[in-house]
Amino acid sequence: PNPPLSLPKGQDGLKLVNDPAHPFIAADPNDIRGPCPALNTLASHGYLPRNGVARPDQIITAVMEGLNLGNDFAKFLCYQAFLMNGNPLTNLMSIGMKTPLTGQDPPKPALVGGLSQHGTFEGDTSMTRVDAFFGDQAVFNETLFQGFIDTATKFGFNDTYDVNAAAELRNQRLQNSIQTNPQLVFTSPRILSAYSEAVFPTIFFVDGRLNNRQLTIDAARHFFDFQMMPTGFFRQPAPVNFTIVDPLVSFLFNKHPFSPGVNQGRNNFVLQPQTPPLSDFCGIYEDIVLRVIPGQYPNPTGVLRNAINKNLGFFFGAVSAEHNCTQVFPFGRD
Ligand code: HEM
Ligand code: MG
Repeated sequence: PNPPLSLPKGQDGLKLVNDPAHPFIAADPNDIRGPCPALNTLASHGYLPRNGVARPDQIITAVMEGLNLGNDFAKFLCYQAFLMNGNPLTNLMSIGMKTPLTGQDPPKPALVGGLSQHGTFEGDTSMTRVDAFFGDQAVFNETLFQGFIDTATKFGFNDTYDVNAAAELRNQRLQNSIQTNPQLVFTSPRILSAYSEAVFPTIFFVDGRLNNRQLTIDAARHFFDFQMMPTGFFRQPAPVNFTIVDPLVSFLFNKHPFSPGVNQGRNNFVLQPQTPPLSDFCGIYEDIVLRVIPGQYPNPTGVLRNAINKNLGFFFGAVSAEHNCTQVFPFGRD
C-alpha cells in the first residue's frame, strides 16, 4: 500500500494513548522486540502487531497515532529503516532480530536483518544498549540506564532527562566507546540517528499535557525498560516534524561538537573527513541512498528493483518535505 496520509485535522492533537483500546500486554517469548524503545512500546500496546513484524504503513500509522510523529518525520525514519532492514519483496520488517516471518529473502548480499542488524540503522554508542562488540546490541542494559539516570541527576532540571542531560549523555557515550570499543564506527548514517535518538525522549516520552521537554526517570523507566507507556499517558499535542527536532539536535552538537570517525583499535579514533558530517543532512541522505543501500542491493532487477525504487521515492518524499536535497537514483529512474 501507499504510505499513510497525515492524521486528519482535528484528530492530530493531544490524546490519551495508553487507553483501553491499547492495553499493555508484555511481549510473549515469540514476540520480537529490538533496539528501539518507542517501537517496542508501540508493539506492546498493540499500535503495532504485537509479534513485532510490520509493514511500513503500519509503522508510520503507529508512530503517528501513538506518539504524534509528523507524517514526514514518520516516513523519513520508517523508509530509512525499511530500505536497510526490511524485505522489499514481502513489504515486512522485524523491529528486532532477523526472522523467517518476513518471508523469503531477496538474493544476498541483501540482509533483511530487522532493526537489530548491527551496522545499518542500529549502531554504536547507544544510550541504553551496549555496542555490538560487547554483546547484545538490541537489549535494554540496566548498567547503562543507571548512567542515563546519573546524567539526568547531574545535568537535567529537577533530575529530569532534558536537552542538557541529553547533550552530556550523548558525548559521554561517544567518549566511552572511543576509549573501549576497538571496532567503534561513528559515521553517517549512525551519527544522525544517534543524535536524533538522544533528543527523542525529551519530546515523545514526555506527557503531552505537560510537554516541557523534561522526562522524569519514572517515565524513562517505563518506556526504555518496561516497554510500557506510563498510566494515563498522553501523546504530543501536535505532530512533531524536523522543525522541532533539528534545532534540538544542533543544540546537542554545539555543546560537544565531534567529527565522524572510526576506531582502529581502542582509543584510536581516526577521522573520516570524506564522509558527511552531522550538519550535512543532504550528504547523509545521499550516503544512505548511494552507498548504504547499494551495499545490500548492488544490482537489483525486475520486481525487486521496482519495489526498492518505490521505497526510495517515498524516502526522498519525506526528506524533501523539509530539506532542500536533490534526489539521487542508484538504480536508474523509472
Ligand atoms: C533507537 C528505529 C521511531 C526513540 C532506535 C534504533 C532503531 C530505531 C533501529 C537503534 C539505534 C541504536 O541505538 O543503535 C526506529 C524507527 C522508527 C523509530 C524505524 C520509526 C519509524 C522512534 C520514535 C522514538 C524513538 C518515535 C521516540 C522516542 C528511540 C530511542 C532510541 C532509538 C530513544 C535509542 C535507544 C538507545 O540509545 O538506547 N530506533 N525508531 N524511535 N529509538 Fe527509534
Ligand atoms: Mg545501538
